[in-house]
Amino acid sequence: MAVKSLFIVCFMSALIQLTLASKARHFKWEVGHIFWSPDCLENVVIGINGQFPGPTIRAKAGDTIVVELTNKLHTEGVVIHWHGIRQFGTPWADGTAAISQCAINPEETFVYRFIVDKPGTYFYHGHYGMQRSAGLYGSLIVDVADGEKEPFHYDGELNMLLSDWWHKDVTEQGLGLSSKPFRWIGEPQSLLINGKGQYNCSLAAHVSNSSLPLCRKLHGHCSPHVLHVIPNKTYRLRIASTTALASINVGIGHHKMVVIEADGNYVEPVTVDNIDIYSGESYSVLITTDQNPSSNYWVSLNVRGRNPSTPPGLTILNYHPNSPSKLPTSPLPVSPAWNDYPKSKAFSNKILARPGSPKPPTKPNRRIFLLNTQNTIDGYTKWAINNISLVLPTTPYLGSIKYRLKNAFDVESPPETFPSDYDVMKPPVNPNSTHGSNVYMFKFNNTVDVILQNANALSADVSEIHPWHLHGHDFWLLGYGEGKFTAADEKKLNLKNPPLRNTAVIFPYGWTALRFVTDNPGVWAFHCHIEPHLHMGMGVVFAEAVHLVKKIPNEALGCGMTAKMLIRP
Ligand code: C2O
Ligand code: CU
Repeated sequence: MAVKSLFIVCFMSALIQLTLASKARHFKWEVGHIFWSPDCLENVVIGINGQFPGPTIRAKAGDTIVVELTNKLHTEGVVIHWHGIRQFGTPWADGTAAISQCAINPEETFVYRFIVDKPGTYFYHGHYGMQRSAGLYGSLIVDVADGEKEPFHYDGELNMLLSDWWHKDVTEQGLGLSSKPFRWIGEPQSLLINGKGQYNCSLAAHVSNSSLPLCRKLHGHCSPHVLHVIPNKTYRLRIASTTALASINVGIGHHKMVVIEADGNYVEPVTVDNIDIYSGESYSVLITTDQNPSSNYWVSLNVRGRNPSTPPGLTILNYHPNSPSKLPTSPLPVSPAWNDYPKSKAFSNKILARPGSPKPPTKPNRRIFLLNTQNTIDGYTKWAINNISLVLPTTPYLGSIKYRLKNAFDVESPPETFPSDYDVMKPPVNPNSTHGSNVYMFKFNNTVDVILQNANALSADVSEIHPWHLHGHDFWLLGYGEGKFTAADEKKLNLKNPPLRNTAVIFPYGWTALRFVTDNPGVWAFHCHIEPHLHMGMGVVFAEAVHLVKKIPNEALGCGMTAKMLIRP
């Protein structure tokens, strides 16, 4: 009896401590179009509470985030996805239109409520149509829980959310992508750091051979987001990329970076001169301000993997007490050539799990090969996976699978592999593919391998970079390889210290192998994080033990009045 009551007392106090430590953080957001000048030129962007980018969410591991989102866009729906947050037990809060919920109608409010269980550098963004490209994004940073320590030390923190910006609005961009003949969106006009860039002028005109004039008197929206530091300190610089297209190399003049975190997971510290970051990824790097304190230093972003016509994105690392407007006189940090893929691969291969990180199960229960091809359907240009180009259904999968709605989506299982004689080095022999809303169905707690296989696009000698992002999970990144994955590649897989990530790139003509455990009942998107590519069908849908999903809130099941009137079976 005494033992039992002691146990109860201990249990209760533990519970009280837990509830004391973790708290709910409430936000009230209105999403709407606003006039803004991200790169000094006025455009229309999607903002939150009149701001672009949206407000930064800062929380501690274990906290509950509550975002009451009201859609103030006049004629379109909206959702927000919390990129990198796994949504254990709350798959309806994942914010993917037609997958986890209906898009929120104009003037309606949806409440996102979810736990941020793991410290790390994350972000959020629109996940309906091309609303991310329209500027709907912001940072989400999760600190360690009270009393927990991080496995490294730093004196201060800096944050950079990277994006790319077009002057052409997303309606026009989307129309071009779905037109016959196809009209590509082209390269971005500017690269933005925390929503700020400079068009038609350069901060570094005096030290680079750019033909652009020096920027004069920048103020307001497009004045650079200066990083303020004190000499002889160590800073944690958080870098996340929500670009629509650009892969970016980030360098800081005269400073090395020590990579310590990737996608919300600690990695084996590795020192580099610059990093490559693909859309959907995030990193934390440590920098030490041990350089000559009388000058400021460049922070520069350059496009990788596409022949760039976008000038570098720039800002300044400002050593106290120098004026932040004192421009560095040193040349811009050297960025590798855009097509130096060996350099990019070398960087990706350096990212390994920190000792003590969870290890992958040694064998998969199931292995799926996903061939990435560019195709045509009735003359329209598309991307397809195993010859199916994704089109989302009108009823969100989560509810339609859980309640077994008839005809809600294509029920036939999508192919687990592709013809063994497919030549990934050549354009498709038969470029035709089909549309589909088919779903990969998984049992609970299975180990699944995905081999992403890149190939040649429609034109000869073209194969592009695609950063694939998985919702609801981190996966172990078992490795990258060249050409077509073969049985001989099996032994190249890293089962010893693969990093846990939520985004992994496939390099041109290469493969990338991932492993994850289906331990999170729900319906999860897995797709290329390049917004126009997803728009053109480059994604698949994973449904995981949906019968185990708890009570889905009505607002996520249906739309408008139907949501309120839904009577559950
Ligand atoms: Cu950040 Cu489905 O995306
Ligand atoms: Cu892609």
